[in-house]
Amino acid sequence: MSSLPKIGIDIGSSAIKLVELVPAGNKWKFVSAASMPTTSGVTAEGSNIPAVAAAIAGIVKEAGMRTRRAVVALPEEQVSSHVIELPILKDAEIAQALEWQVEQYIPIPKEQATWSWEVVRKDEVTGGMEVLLVAASKNLVENYKKIVEQSGLELVAVETELTATSRAMVGQSGPLTMIIDIGAKSTDLGIVRSGQLIATRTLPTAGEAFSRAIESTLALDPKQAEQYRNTYGFTPGQLEGKLAAAMQPVLGVLAGEVKKMTDFYVSKHPGEIIKSAVLSGGVAAMPNIVTSLSALLGIETIVGNPFANLIMDEAQKQAFASNGPFYGVAIGLAMREI
Ligand SMILES: Nc1ncnc2c1ncn2[C@@H]1O[C@H](COP(=O)(O)OP(=O)(O)OP(=O)(O)O)[C@@H](O)[C@H]1O
Ligand SMILES: [Mg+2]
Repeated sequence: MSSLPKIGIDIGSSAIKLVELVPAGNKWKFVSAASMPTTSGVTAEGSNIPAVAAAIAGIVKEAGMRTRRAVVALPEEQVSSHVIELPILKDAEIAQALEWQVEQYIPIPKEQATWSWEVVRKDEVTGGMEVLLVAASKNLVENYKKIVEQSGLELVAVETELTATSRAMVGQSGPLTMIIDIGAKSTDLGIVRSGQLIATRTLPTAGEAFSRAIESTLALDPKQAEQYRNTYGFTPGQLEGKLAAAMQPVLGVLAGEVKKMTDFYVSKHPGEIIKSAVLSGGVAAMPNIVTSLSALLGIETIVGNPFANLIMDEAQKQAFASNGPFYGVAIGLAMREI
């Protein structure tokens, strides 16, 4: 494997997660993982760079991480991804076409943006191709670079959260799969085909929406509501069924959005079926959410386990077993070939 030891850094709205991996043969060996609550959001304006950098430096020190090379994820909601249909073109022609067209697809002026693209489908019969365009503001990327550098690490790559999750949880083969990453503030949806992320969306319905539903239905304060959510989740019979009943409408909204995305994909690609869903993000650890969501989606749904493909000793397995979804993004980042 042409890879080097790395630290994956996932700066979420509620927690900063770091994972250190080293290559071992053609696999990855787990060294350490650690996290810290996010105290100040990282925004494109960059006002909190020193605080976030200090938090990362603190995690590295406390966990005794020795690797310096780091890969960081850009928050999915600040990245715009579009699948663009073009006639079959050569790479240089695609680059030129995008140079002209990119502004149609991104919400910021071209000169403030940085973008990359990848051919995700080529159909010789119809003569058409699909190109996935991924763009973000240069300022945002610059700020993430500053964060990593100020934390004392060396930034070797930047990618999106779903690209990392896909690498850690779906792999190169298998059927068309939907990734559902439920974080504290947002849920990221991604469709993966043969290991390639081909469509993405971000929703504002996530962990906090479940907590708010519990707060208002059961008259609890935000902290208690989060505790109940994490401890009991959708386990039947808890609080006479009131807990699951309070959260069910939120899950319904989430499932509705997942279905809209799968329906849209299938309408564009007749004959293809999205057969399975993989849950990721800290909120995917909620008891029984997978059963309840699977019932609404009507497809096989599992909680992703990004530790499954890593070499770990028994003590590490025990310490981290229930935290797989929480560390999905950070593991995928550290697994990047580089
Ligand atoms: N085992 C667990 N470990 C950590 N967090 C958990 C666990 N189980 C549930 N949670 C909840 O998951 C949420 C954090 O998830 P995650 O770290 O994926 O969010 P985030 O990435 O910070 O948010 P976002 O992606 O929306 O910016 C918190 O609300 C936390 O209470
Ligand atoms: Mg997240």
